[in-house]
Amino acid sequence: MASFIQLVKQRRSVRAYTDQPIEQDKLMQCLVAAQLAPSACNAQPWRFVVVDNPLLRNKMADAAVSGVLGMNKFAPQAVVIVAVVMEPANVTSKLGGLIKKKDFPLIDVGIAAEHFCLQAAELGIGTCMLGWFDEKKVRALLEIPKNRRIPLLITMGYPKSEEDREKFRKPIEAISGWNKY
Ligand SMILES: Cc1cc2nc3c(=O)[nH]c(=O)nc-3n(C[C@H](O)[C@H](O)[C@H](O)COP(=O)(O)O)c2cc1C
Repeated sequence: MASFIQLVKQRRSVRAYTDQPIEQDKLMQCLVAAQLAPSACNAQPWRFVVVDNPLLRNKMADAAVSGVLGMNKFAPQAVVIVAVVMEPANVTSKLGGLIKKKDFPLIDVGIAAEHFCLQAAELGIGTCMLGWFDEKKVRALLEIPKNRRIPLLITMGYPKSEEDREKFRKPIEAISGWNKY
């Protein structure tokens, strides 16, 4: 089994997929990993809508591709697309968020989405989180209530290449401080 840091290094945004189907039990494992994510006041303000129906998935992919800006052209290759829906928090999380002026559900959803993607990576499945897509279109396609935001889509598929791209990251000194900012 890979160590945690190996898994974190292995997870990258995969933007080229084979057409090999993803096994249902592996998708379930990803959902369980998301289910176990922490959240403010344990509110679990998320719902993962897994789209594996090819017709619907193609329409979802269309909603992610932007012709003008050339964004997410790879999305139609995805075998599965997951819509990550932000659900209302519980009373304590809502109250805490109001008092502390923090968007707890958005933080929670981000953590759960990363749990999902890390589990996928461990299973050899590539993912890419997408923040750029036509939210209205996705909402209509999946019959998501009007008052729900969809912070992310996650495209999924077995990676086309084994290539381990280098990760470009800010140096540790730029992202951390010891005992002061
Ligand atoms: C909130 C969020 C939104 C993102 N939106 C997109 C997107 O719309 N299209 C895309 O190709 N990648 C998107 N990404 C992937 C990032 O570009 C990627 O995580 C980053 O460049 C680091 O690369 P890595 O994931 O391979 O480590 C998004 C990632 C996050 C966390």
